[in-house]
Amino acid sequence: MESAATGFHLRDRVLVVFVLALLSLAHGSMGARRLMELYEPDPSELLKYHNGTVLSGDIPVSILWYGRFTAAQKDIVSDFLASLSASPRIYPAPSVPQWWSSIVRLYLSKVEAVGKKGATKTRVFLSGNFSDVGCSLGRSLTLSQIPALAATAKPARGGVALLLTAQDVAVEGFCMSRCGMHGPGAEAGSAYVWVGNSAAQCPAQCAWPFQQEEPPVVPPNGDLGMDGLVINLASMLAGAVTDPFGDGFYQGEREAPLEAATACQGVYGSGAYPGNAGKLLIDKVTGASYNANGAHGRRYLLPALFDPLSSQCATLV
Ligand SMILES: *[C@@H]1O[C@H](CO)[C@@H](O)[C@H](O)[C@H]1NC(C)=O
Ligand SMILES: *[C@@H]1O[C@H](CO)[C@@H](O)[C@H](O)[C@H]1NC(C)=O
Repeated sequence: MESAATGFHLRDRVLVVFVLALLSLAHGSMGARRLMELYEPDPSELLKYHNGTVLSGDIPVSILWYGRFTAAQKDIVSDFLASLSASPRIYPAPSVPQWWSSIVRLYLSKVEAVGKKGATKTRVFLSGNFSDVGCSLGRSLTLSQIPALAATAKPARGGVALLLTAQDVAVEGFCMSRCGMHGPGAEAGSAYVWVGNSAAQCPAQCAWPFQQEEPPVVPPNGDLGMDGLVINLASMLAGAVTDPFGDGFYQGEREAPLEAATACQGVYGSGAYPGNAGKLLIDKVTGASYNANGAHGRRYLLPALFDPLSSQCATLV
């Protein structure tokens, strides 16, 4: 399915934000209500399971660092990945493993319920990492180069090849219509995820809400680009696990689907509305905003996940 690799998971942020606005205005003004009457989807159609493949069991993630990342920047990502499948008890709530277990509870448990065993026993871990500091394919990538480039991270079967592009690397459509992408990997049964550091190119789009002014949202690891990258990484990873090959959990067009996290774009805490990320926790010392604790005392801001049962965005705070 060659076309699938590039066709499935194109994110049109504008479309997503528009749909989000419709979803979140459901209880809003009369004008919005009228819109909802026109467009409100059948609740049974919301992020339906299409009876296909999800990633489950052990999910090894191998990284290709494309371009220059500092050791401190790499640690932000490595600690996030190491936190996902840790025991929820070892970090203060709310935590990164709680966010991950929401994916299991809201999505993977349904796969098990239709008789596909073992889906709830999933574990994400960092299995390897490679660097291409000199950018062997140049600093301007096309979408069609992404899957093969990600594959140089040598993904294992059933795993995820994670391509991370540095802040001086341009990718077709990056910042214009997408902050990341995922799709079927080169190795059978694997998936790829690409996300970029947007600090130098479009933090207002791809590191939002850290550019939100009122109230200010300060990046929890002190790195606008990397804290924004983690948001998009979390979002694409949720999609790659629950809809790796375009026949898992999605809603709408198969070519431009809404998935577990993209269906809640712009929502980070309770009470979010378009242009406002919602309630977040604030570090009293640094003033940083976060909603999840992770390894080594780190904090992260993670996206809400769509709850297909309640048709609402589930938030950690
Ligand atoms: C879903 O897939 C299973 C096999 O994995 C099959 O037995 C079942 O009939 C499928 N259900 C639908 C509604 O297609
Ligand atoms: C990444 O790879 C380098 C070099 O192989 C290794 O020293 C380092 O421990 C790896 N980092 C992680 C988090 O696996």
